[in-house]
Amino acid sequence: MSFSHDLDFTGRRILLTGAANGFGAAMATLFHAAGARLVLADIEEQPLAEVAAQCGAEAHVFDQADPDSVKRLAEAAGPVDTLINNAGVLVAKPLLETSFEELRRVIDIDFVGALRLMQLVGRGMVERRRGVILSIGSQTAFSGGENRAVYAAAKAAISQLTKSAAVEWGPHGVRVVCLAPGRSLTRMTQQTAIEGQSGDRGLARVPLGRWGKVEEIAKMAMFLVSDAASYVTGATVIADGGYVHG
Ligand SMILES: NC(=O)c1ccc[n+]([C@@H]2O[C@H](COP(=O)([O-])OP(=O)(O)OC[C@H]3O[C@@H](n4cnc5c(N)ncnc54)[C@H](O)[C@@H]3O)[C@@H](O)[C@H]2O)c1
Repeated sequence: MSFSHDLDFTGRRILLTGAANGFGAAMATLFHAAGARLVLADIEEQPLAEVAAQCGAEAHVFDQADPDSVKRLAEAAGPVDTLINNAGVLVAKPLLETSFEELRRVIDIDFVGALRLMQLVGRGMVERRRGVILSIGSQTAFSGGENRAVYAAAKAAISQLTKSAAVEWGPHGVRVVCLAPGRSLTRMTQQTAIEGQSGDRGLARVPLGRWGKVEEIAKMAMFLVSDAASYVTGATVIADGGYVHG
């Protein structure tokens, strides 16, 4: 029995979306150091190319809002051992001020695009009878939150999807898990924290008294897709400094 062996990703082919920034870039760095063969994807070409160069990875530019683009990514990536559905957007607005275009964008990227990629990649995993799929959800799926209505709903849908996919694909050797981070300082949340949009009030509710760090979320992601978590499936693990229990 060896815990460090379980965290060795040598030769494991991992498709990671949203890899150009934030959690995705941190995950790419950790997985690369652990020996993984990375296929990185994002809509932002330049930062994606930089992360891919640092990690010796394949890079694919794609738009998760576009079903054809998602399909092309799945085809270009080919068979992978692990999918990490991390790409996402946040529209931080009161529900009554959120336009139809804005709510469609959040649902299309954070839910429909992630679901479609899970389906396309999951089919091959089921056929090969092995694989792990991790989606990055959100603590807001459990807590809700001011200016988070549509985002929280999309992330709740991902957590719910994780349960059913795990039940259907578990007998075929495929694990499906979800990681729900609390607020962590990335580009996505920096602006809202600066503007104080539920930022300071939210922090008072975090028992650990601080926002998350990208490396803390990346390490938990790594644990969940590793063989150390081989008996975990269908679960959403919350890493939020205790916010939803506060
Ligand atoms: N930062 C937080 O506090 C927090 C908390 C909970 C969940 N999350 C989730 O973590 C994930 C990563 O977010 P982050 O905080 O690192 O933010 P980020 O903005 O730094 O990274 C998101 C990445 O997704 C990419 N992306 C956005 N739209 C895309 C599209 N249509 N097609 C392809 N790629 C696209 C972006 O280019 C970016 O590289 C997201 O799913 C987000 O919802 C973040």
